[in-house]
Amino acid sequence: MDGTPTPLRADETRAHDLVGVGFGPSNLALAVALRDAGSPLSARFLEQRDRFVWHGNMLLDGSRMQISFLKDLVSLRDPTSRYSFLSYLHRRGRLQDFINLRTFYPSRREFNDYLGWVAADFADVCGYGVTVTAVEPVRGAGGGLSQVRVHARDAAGRDRSLLARNVVIGAGATPQVPEPFQSLVRSHPVPDGPQDGPLVIHSNGYLAAADALARAGRVAVIGLGQSAAELFLDLHGRGVAVDVIARGPAMRPADSSPFANKVFDADYTGYLYGLPADERAALLRAFHNTNYAVVDPDLIDAIYAIFYQQKVAGAERHAMLTRREVVTATARPDGDGVTLALANLDDGSREERRYDAVLLATGYRRRIHEALLQPMEPWLTGGEVGRDYRLPTVPGCSVGLYLQGCCEATHGLSDSLLSILPIRAQEIATALTAAVPADAQGDTIRMLTSAQR
Ligand SMILES: Cc1cc2nc3c(=O)[nH]c(=O)nc-3n(C[C@H](O)[C@H](O)[C@H](O)COP(=O)(O)OP(=O)(O)OC[C@H]3O[C@@H](n4cnc5c(N)ncnc54)[C@H](O)[C@@H]3O)c2cc1C
Ligand SMILES: NC(=O)c1ccc[n+]([C@@H]2O[C@H](COP(=O)([O-])OP(=O)(O)OC[C@H]3O[C@@H](n4cnc5c(N)ncnc54)[C@H](OP(=O)(O)O)[C@@H]3O)[C@@H](O)[C@H]2O)c1
Repeated sequence: MDGTPTPLRADETRAHDLVGVGFGPSNLALAVALRDAGSPLSARFLEQRDRFVWHGNMLLDGSRMQISFLKDLVSLRDPTSRYSFLSYLHRRGRLQDFINLRTFYPSRREFNDYLGWVAADFADVCGYGVTVTAVEPVRGAGGGLSQVRVHARDAAGRDRSLLARNVVIGAGATPQVPEPFQSLVRSHPVPDGPQDGPLVIHSNGYLAAADALARAGRVAVIGLGQSAAELFLDLHGRGVAVDVIARGPAMRPADSSPFANKVFDADYTGYLYGLPADERAALLRAFHNTNYAVVDPDLIDAIYAIFYQQKVAGAERHAMLTRREVVTATARPDGDGVTLALANLDDGSREERRYDAVLLATGYRRRIHEALLQPMEPWLTGGEVGRDYRLPTVPGCSVGLYLQGCCEATHGLSDSLLSILPIRAQEIATALTAAVPADAQGDTIRMLTSAQR
């Protein structure tokens, strides 16, 4: 509908007002906010995947959103935006059918389709298949810093770079891999991991490996959060025997009750940010069970029913091995799976169990920005990220470095989620517009729609 993709040249020499790292929901929401505001800023987003997809390896049959569709990319900021979920349904000719579903929680597949529908309208400002590798300072004549060079690698392995006055990192997360599995976990999606050997996969790579996993006789799923629950059900549906192995005592429900849910409200961000660090940390701990290591109650019921039915049938295929820690994971010498040594956290006893494959539903780390910004260290004060998501820089540096999705400690539990994307995007868009002098804005790609151009 709008512009066609513009290829990334080897060395773009004119500075963009903004380069966005990653084009998931966070930076997509920012692109939408800039366009909705008719912003004159020139912007370019770089995305390592070859097309838009939202956690594609977890788009499982029957998996649902964990947030109301009203928390789409725009509605909290402007319910009349043409990029709302309702607008998407209308354009797809499904609005009435969706209403008849009587739900606030669409399938993850449908929401992925919605996000992809919006992203298609921004193909002219996103370079796909481009992995950002570093953000480097470019000293001006007077020794100050008003630009950075964003280094990247395209799908063919060629180096590319862009100049930017501001960088917004919205690069998501990397898999958290427990120590015993670090030398075993397969390459996808962990860079530099082994390509062969036993099937040890993080949940982030699940669907790509699902057929191979379906041929496995017995699979261990490590973890007790939403991903573990969804993988258990999916594998059960494929006829695979599953042992769920976790340190916790039981599969527990996510607290999504209305008062607790207020920690995901937009105005909670400012409240939390204003508190001393120890009080913030205490609140994050208190509300941990709204998001982490917890499971949608409907799924818990479904899983419990499966365990009960296998008792009725007298054939206990699956096992729930709680209060167990994986001490070692060893590839079997015959190439036939993995042996896990488990410590029982209640009585200290040890046991060994053999699996054909292991799935790590062990969550994520959000530290991509640290590696990308390492060359910028001399220009960073090391202080806390600002309320406007901008990292504080030393005098002489006018480059804005903004973070999306890795500010949970300062901005709250909504930071890694979709909860307040439109508001955060607007706050960053406002900060960017204020930071770039009007006479320097928009000398390359603009965020205006083709109709406006
Ligand atoms: C399976 C799953 C389901 C979820 N469901 C929900 C839900 O229902 N509701 C909710 O609120 N939250 C949910 N979440 C949380 C999730 O973090 C957010 O939904 C959302 O994806 C955050 O968007 P993001 O753009 O910050 O990160 P991401 O969606 O992770 O996007 C980051 C993008 O940056 C790209 N990237 C990374 N590094 C680079 C690089 N060096 N160069 C270029 N590109 C790069 C990645 O390829 C990716 O496309 C879910 C998470 C998972 C794992
Ligand atoms: N349908 C959906 O919308 C959907 C689907 C999947 C995920 N998600 C979202 O994605 C986010 C992440 O969920 P997640 O389930 O992937 O991760 P998570 O909630 O962080 O849970 C990780 C699990 O792995 C365990 N774990 C972590 N490190 C471990 C280690 N070293 N050894 C053993 N166990 C370890 C944790 O146990 P401990 O408590 O013992 O540390 C926990 O049970 C959440 O926001 C979730 O809502 C959404």
